[in-house]
Amino acid sequence: MRSVSMTEQEVSPPAIIDLEDLGLDRGAHLLIDRALRALPIGGRLEVRGRDEALAIHLRAWARARGHSFVESEASTTLIRGAADHARWDQAERAGGALPTDIVHKPGANWGLAARGALVEAGGPPLHFDIEEKDLVWADLAPRLYAQAAANQWDPATAIDWASPFELQEEIESAVVQVMTYLVENEQVALIVPARFLGRIHPHFREVLQVLAVQAADEARHIEVFARRAALRGGPLGVSGAGGRASLATLLDEPEFALASFLLSVLGEGTFLSLLGFLETYAPDPIARRITHLARQDESRHVAFGMAHLEHQSVLDPQLRGRLRAAVERRHDALLDTVGLNQEVFDALVIMAAGSWTPSSIARGYGAVAALQAEMDEGRQRRLVRLGFPPDEASALSALHTRNFM
Ligand SMILES: [Fe+2]
Ligand SMILES: [Fe+2]
Repeated sequence: MRSVSMTEQEVSPPAIIDLEDLGLDRGAHLLIDRALRALPIGGRLEVRGRDEALAIHLRAWARARGHSFVESEASTTLIRGAADHARWDQAERAGGALPTDIVHKPGANWGLAARGALVEAGGPPLHFDIEEKDLVWADLAPRLYAQAAANQWDPATAIDWASPFELQEEIESAVVQVMTYLVENEQVALIVPARFLGRIHPHFREVLQVLAVQAADEARHIEVFARRAALRGGPLGVSGAGGRASLATLLDEPEFALASFLLSVLGEGTFLSLLGFLETYAPDPIARRITHLARQDESRHVAFGMAHLEHQSVLDPQLRGRLRAAVERRHDALLDTVGLNQEVFDALVIMAAGSWTPSSIARGYGAVAALQAEMDEGRQRRLVRLGFPPDEASALSALHTRNFM
């Protein structure tokens, strides 16, 4: 039975493959495919074998793959079709595997394909809110991700939760108040990158990886601050309306550059000073240790925010104006709020004072004033690095939320 017309290739002797006992129900297609790939379209492959169902299976398989066939009593001869070629005709490479091969605007058709994969045409288009490299990228991202992955610490073992310490009840309450405040802030620091994570095209995978580990960092910060707050069994501190209003504005910012400017550069940048302060003044070894660990992570979060904004502001001269407007908008929105709760401010003073003598309180108050000056100076330095003139940097830093984050 001839199922195709005569061609020159049919006249020349076919290639031969012997499958021995192997049937198509146990992987024989791998050997047949491999042999067919070596042939031109129209080339012939005589398939021999002892599996009883081979002839029947081979016919069905060949039809499904678009190959024709000629049967004889002893064997089946396949004639290579063009379908496997045609399948990849329209395929395209999704950029390349390396960060240097990232394309500016990956197609929606690439969807979830691995960067650098050969993408078969015809899959469902998949749109992400953020599909342009320059809206999220920083050349530092691959290195920051590697560093972050290497520096993950385990809250169960990185902190000696049983280390002994004695604190006066009011000092303990001050620590608990600060921890309560930190948990609240860490929660927004987790939610903001986590929300963006799902909106960014996975072609920029190092950015997704950085944000994923950043979210994981915040998850650990929440854990250790909450655990220290509850360590001595007392109730948690207060959550003021002004602080929560300040944090809520961070969730309202839909643009990645502006959100990471407000959260990572200004907020987490300010937190670097706060955590450094706590590392110095916290009255117990556990609070000092957890703020030290969190601070190391935070410096990576700030570094990524800075690196991205430096990248984008070089390409987009309008960006600085939009960053300025974002700070002003947020300041206006928070005008009627108190910013940092008095309870948190007082707790910081008490922690730095360490006791209730007037001279200790004076020293604690002075330390918190110095902290605020250091926060302001850090913000101005980062703003200048982003290209703001010093006077503008100073004005913008002054508009930053009094809640620190
Ligand atoms: Fe954090
Ligand atoms: Fe952070």
